[in-house]
Amino acid sequence: MNTALAAAHAEAASMPLEQIDPASLDYFVKGTELAYFARLRRDDPVHHAVSPWAGPYWSITRYQDIMHVDTHPQLFSSEWTYGGITLFDPPPNEQLPMFIAMDPPKHDEQRKAVQAIVAPGNLATMESLIRERTCRVLDGLPRNETFDWVDRVSIELTTLMLATLFDFPVEDRRLLTWWSDVSTMNKRVNPDAMEPEERMAELGKMLAYFTRLWNERVNAPPRNDLVSMLAHNPATRNMSPMEYMGNLVLLIVGGNDTTRNSMTGGLLALHENPQQWAKLRENPKLVDSLVPEIIRWQTPLAYMRRTAVADSEVGGKLIRKGEKVAMWYLSGNRDETAIERPDEFIIDRARPRQHLSFGFGIHRCVGNRLAEMQLKILWEEILKRFPVIEVVGEPTRVKSTFVRGFSALPVRIPG
Ligand code: HEM
Repeated sequence: MNTALAAAHAEAASMPLEQIDPASLDYFVKGTELAYFARLRRDDPVHHAVSPWAGPYWSITRYQDIMHVDTHPQLFSSEWTYGGITLFDPPPNEQLPMFIAMDPPKHDEQRKAVQAIVAPGNLATMESLIRERTCRVLDGLPRNETFDWVDRVSIELTTLMLATLFDFPVEDRRLLTWWSDVSTMNKRVNPDAMEPEERMAELGKMLAYFTRLWNERVNAPPRNDLVSMLAHNPATRNMSPMEYMGNLVLLIVGGNDTTRNSMTGGLLALHENPQQWAKLRENPKLVDSLVPEIIRWQTPLAYMRRTAVADSEVGGKLIRKGEKVAMWYLSGNRDETAIERPDEFIIDRARPRQHLSFGFGIHRCVGNRLAEMQLKILWEEILKRFPVIEVVGEPTRVKSTFVRGFSALPVRIPG
């Protein structure tokens, strides 16, 4: 445990519970958030707080209680009109309909429109392309000099993947990275972010670009890419421009930030646990259980928000209709009553896929198998090439309480 986290554990253990606001940006930027969740799981697992930018909200911090909320959509709604899936309630001109922020039946219909992209047959077809690109990116990395793993590997690989899923011009792929970053920016949480009007204008550029792709594909025969799937499916072909924009944001952020931060988080976790890295080198087959352990350990989306649509009890506390609820997957993934030795990074766990990082229930991640495949290929190819990747400086953490990840990680490959 690093010194900042150890100091935070000491602070969290003694501070009055009512002072703990787990959605504090400061905790996430310093990388100390886990200390406050440990205290809450122990002393106040269903916790009420008032955030300066999100107002009053409940935090659900234990594994079983999170499962309960996530699997009761009839009590806990995802609807964008209530505020959607993040704690900040956007003003009407920034509200974006998207199927992750919808309840049945519309959610189910729109989800089905894109689900075929990750059907087992399609995944098998994509595997060789992903491997080829992964090899090319790894073979192009510098030797004996410091470079940024996030930019050269994590962003590059996830953006190439997204370009494939959308059949998006590969030379323009960094626009996808940019729009993903813009989508998750929130000036009210992070003062360094762009102004809301500027953000919506950038997303308007994304919509214009994707509208051109839609118009090309809507009258052509259906193809195996996300734009064509949306344009041809009866559930999505008549979407309003804002709904198209919303679903694009969902698919871009869903497929980008999450896998990107697992790629960086995994390297960091192995660097911090050299005995696990040695075990992996000795037995590369452990990649199969390494990948879900990385996803648990990183938990790239720290929480999902719901809004209570009826009064109900969770963990002995009454949550009233209209109140906001954050299911902190990050905390559930460290719950010792559900996961053995949860604060240890162990690459050969018996049940490694038992984690909450992909959510549960009707909104469970569409892209989970694809993400796992990308990470598996990455680690298989790393092991073939690089006995060591040195982390040579501190990571820079993303300024968000929702996306849990890194904007930079300096590394060096000796060779
Ligand atoms: C939903 C995490 C990769 C697309 C979700 C949810 C989580 C999540 C937590 C919400 C679950 C819930 O509310 O119960 C992750 C993580 C990933 C990852 C940790 C990588 C390690 C991907 C990829 C895609 C994707 C590669 C591909 C496009 C989606 C979509 C949804 C979703 C479309 C909405 C599902 C729905 O509302 O029915 N993901 N995701 N995700 N994810 Fe992922």
